[in-house]
Amino acid sequence: MLKVSGLTVNYGATSALKNVDFYAYQGEIVGLAGPNGAGKTTLLETIAGFLKPREGEIHLLDRRIDGLSVLQRRMMGMVLVPQEGNVFPDMTVRENLDVGAILSHKDIRERLIDETYQLFPILHKRATQFAVTLSGGEQRMLALGIGLVSNASILLIDEPSTGLAPKMVTRLFETLDAIKESTGKTIVLSEQNIGVTEIADRVFGIEAGEIRFCENTENLDSEAVRDLYLGK
Ligand SMILES: Nc1ncnc2c1ncn2[C@@H]1O[C@H](COP(=O)(O)OP(=O)(O)OP(=O)(O)O)[C@@H](O)[C@H]1O
Ligand SMILES: [Mg+2]
Repeated sequence: MLKVSGLTVNYGATSALKNVDFYAYQGEIVGLAGPNGAGKTTLLETIAGFLKPREGEIHLLDRRIDGLSVLQRRMMGMVLVPQEGNVFPDMTVRENLDVGAILSHKDIRERLIDETYQLFPILHKRATQFAVTLSGGEQRMLALGIGLVSNASILLIDEPSTGLAPKMVTRLFETLDAIKESTGKTIVLSEQNIGVTEIADRVFGIEAGEIRFCENTENLDSEAVRDLYLGK
């Protein structure tokens, strides 16, 4: 589904990603685990087209996409839920979700929005409120909701657990797992801790801009990985 090879990304003179290889098969949940500053956001933003790589290639469904715009990648079914922001502050919660669902087939939009309301009931309660009036955590739920109602065939979620209460994180992960099972969507999740393995089929470890390991979750010795690569 997604194949990244030899990706190098620089911010000015500093390199944030060095020769990164990364991939996801269709219908998989892939975790991207690494500490602060490891390059998780840089990798996801480069895949989605917000940053241009200095070197390397990105393929989506066998098509080379690193020269394509964010919108072209979006039209191909790639959706990024960024670590911060992503809501339209001067639109209501419902309007934000309507915009998120705009590329989804109209027959299923209502159902997708209902499912998001079930996952995050507070969004239902706040449906007519402007997004700017939501709390930080509620805005985070809305940003995730916008991703969930989209027609994404590949959903990239940058640190989904940030700003959410542990109970909400558990529910979100259960929902993502159910979405994967029922729709065959491909989901890439970044997290600072290896806890992402709870639902991931495979985990890449990244540190200082380099991929340190890629393991199927069942083979992952999380304690060893934590000590060895993530310093936790
Ligand atoms: N706009 C920028 N200009 C210069 N350096 C940047 C910029 N954005 C990120 N960096 C640097 O690139 C490196 C990778 O940052 P990135 O945001 O990708 O890490 P991350 O793994 O997402 O971290 P976090 O868990 O804190 O979100 C860091 O050293 C960071 O300081
Ligand atoms: Mg980040």
